[in-house]
Amino acid sequence: MLQTADDGRTWLLTGPTSGYAVHLTEHGELRHLHWGPRIELADAEALAARPLPDSWPFESALDGHEEYPVEGGPRFVRPALSVRTAERRGTEWAFETYETKGGELRLRFRDSGLGITLHHRMRGDVVERWVTLDNRGPDAVEVLRADSATWTLPDREGWRLSQLHGRWAAESRLVRTGLTYGEKVLGSRRGHTGHQHLPWVALDTDAGEEHGEVYGCALGWSGSWRIAVAQLPDARVQITGGAGYDDSGLLRLRAGESYTTPVFAGLWSGGGHGGASRTWHAYQRTYVVPDADRDRPVLYNSWEATGFDISEERQRALARRAAAIGVELFVVDDGWFGARTSDRAGLGDWRPNPDRFPGGLKPLADHVHGLGMEFGIWVEPEMVNPDSDLYRAHPDWVQHQPGRRRTEFRHQLVLNLAREDVQEYLWEQLDGLLSSAPIDYVKWDFNRCFTDAGWPGEPYPQRLWADHVRALYALLDRLRTAHPRVAFESCSGGGGRIDLGILSRTDQVWTSDNTDPLDRLAIQHGFSHIHPARVMAAWVTDSPNTMLGGRVSSLRFRFVSAMAGVLGVGGDLTRWTEEELAEARDWIALYKEIRPVVQRGGLYRLRPPRGGLSAVQYVLGDETVVLAWLQAQHHGEPPPALRLRGLDPASSYACRETGEVHRGAVLLHHGMHTGLRGDLDAAVVRLCRI
Ligand code: DGJ
Repeated sequence: MLQTADDGRTWLLTGPTSGYAVHLTEHGELRHLHWGPRIELADAEALAARPLPDSWPFESALDGHEEYPVEGGPRFVRPALSVRTAERRGTEWAFETYETKGGELRLRFRDSGLGITLHHRMRGDVVERWVTLDNRGPDAVEVLRADSATWTLPDREGWRLSQLHGRWAAESRLVRTGLTYGEKVLGSRRGHTGHQHLPWVALDTDAGEEHGEVYGCALGWSGSWRIAVAQLPDARVQITGGAGYDDSGLLRLRAGESYTTPVFAGLWSGGGHGGASRTWHAYQRTYVVPDADRDRPVLYNSWEATGFDISEERQRALARRAAAIGVELFVVDDGWFGARTSDRAGLGDWRPNPDRFPGGLKPLADHVHGLGMEFGIWVEPEMVNPDSDLYRAHPDWVQHQPGRRRTEFRHQLVLNLAREDVQEYLWEQLDGLLSSAPIDYVKWDFNRCFTDAGWPGEPYPQRLWADHVRALYALLDRLRTAHPRVAFESCSGGGGRIDLGILSRTDQVWTSDNTDPLDRLAIQHGFSHIHPARVMAAWVTDSPNTMLGGRVSSLRFRFVSAMAGVLGVGGDLTRWTEEELAEARDWIALYKEIRPVVQRGGLYRLRPPRGGLSAVQYVLGDETVVLAWLQAQHHGEPPPALRLRGLDPASSYACRETGEVHRGAVLLHHGMHTGLRGDLDAAVVRLCRI
């Protein structure tokens, strides 16, 4: 709901539990009033009537109170907007008008020829904010920086910052620390979202998992980005964020051109970190992820089994075994195209390798369909190997600086997607590919960062950073429209491109290249703070784990770990014994039963993975599923009872595993024992309200 006060200068957005208010002062300053629990319009008006503190030469009265601080004038905070023309830099804007349409508030300002519109929209309890710049003047305007939003927190003491940091194969690790004066800057200057931080922060003062106030902000952008969290001199906290890492130039707006920033979404939750996560999950399932009401199938991916050593015959053998254990989608990973027999060649040539697939992909796709599964393939369209037909034909299509070395990470270069000829080439290749065989699924990878991001001959080359992402989005949108039954997975060497922007165009993400089931628990724990299980792909692979450290674990532990998201299998099934295949079939059958609850239910993190017992719980209607893992047992430390959440204390619950009936109040207040013992044990518990 969106309300405008009688003064025509105070606006209140209201969600099921939260409210957000802004006010335009008589001097034309846009003040942030409220973000927190629901309030009445009269409360917002009372807040608007409160005077700002006095200004004096060393502090600004506006700092920490403005909804969107621009560069210039009496402001010393980090500007959200920084623009320059041939004559001057900064913004002195005047309010023009406002519009309220379909629950969206548009506040229009103007500085000479530049129109600046601030957008606010409440979806569930998530406030979406973004900005449109519109050059109505005769001269070009350079946009050095245009953040999507600045968020202002209420006056409190002792703010704590939660972030999800990481690196390749160790993504989304949760860290929570106290804020101090100054700025904490998170971001990526790599051209993609990056493994190093998910573009998300949460702030609280004393919240727990299920109690207390939490503020969360998440950016929907898949290129370089920055979120700066500042504790200002008067201790107020503001968070500003948007596309691009630094302020050296995002784009140039010529006369008549406009630019829309990505969405920076924010929420307030009174239900602790768990409540905040459930609100994020519901928001993404309802408004962001395409077809989120359709559950994701169990997939098989051949990467860990075959590496680049692909043959049609081996893929058929894997497919037969995958079908026999209940897999629903069979995906051929890297190595099916061009001269791709290692990572040294072939990227860019999106035609089936004639030695490996003499009849193209269709015979294999038909075989897979004949086995009752969907068929998927891997691509990495934004890249090219120097050893490829594409590069030999168009060496100028890659990002590079004139006269400088081209950095080859993984023997590959980044195509300049800002170029229209590159966009058209990729569209033709991928559209042709998806039309050439019955392909149901595309795993879209991105395996190196930008380094030499130049564009010889282009007058404003730095625009390629943002334009690359815009071209990627446009290509995905075009492919989705032309091939509506194809699902897409976002992958970037595991979890290097996971954000609300890519998730609005893909059906799931590859969470991490680390498939070790124990390491995964920590990665999945962090991931769950922002994204739902419905998009979190997780594979069961071989033991000892082939990638990292060679940890040995049971199929039980590997399956229960991967069942916390979208279950997949990635082991070499041709080497699994009959007993292992039979056990895998049972686990997959069990997953299919609990899948609606896992993929659509409300998530409760019962215990974090910190060495002993950890567990998550999902609740959907009358159904509850608990997944529990015991890392290691120690003498004198029996695994504790798990206190469940989200149940009705007055109801009884039947356990499908044991047939026992538990009282809701007992499960909530005293918990249940899982019976886990030893090291790396795991269990699935299904409860149904009776
Ligand atoms: C990185 C991905 O994360 C892996 O799953 C696999 O697809 C490889 N790329 C293939 O090159």
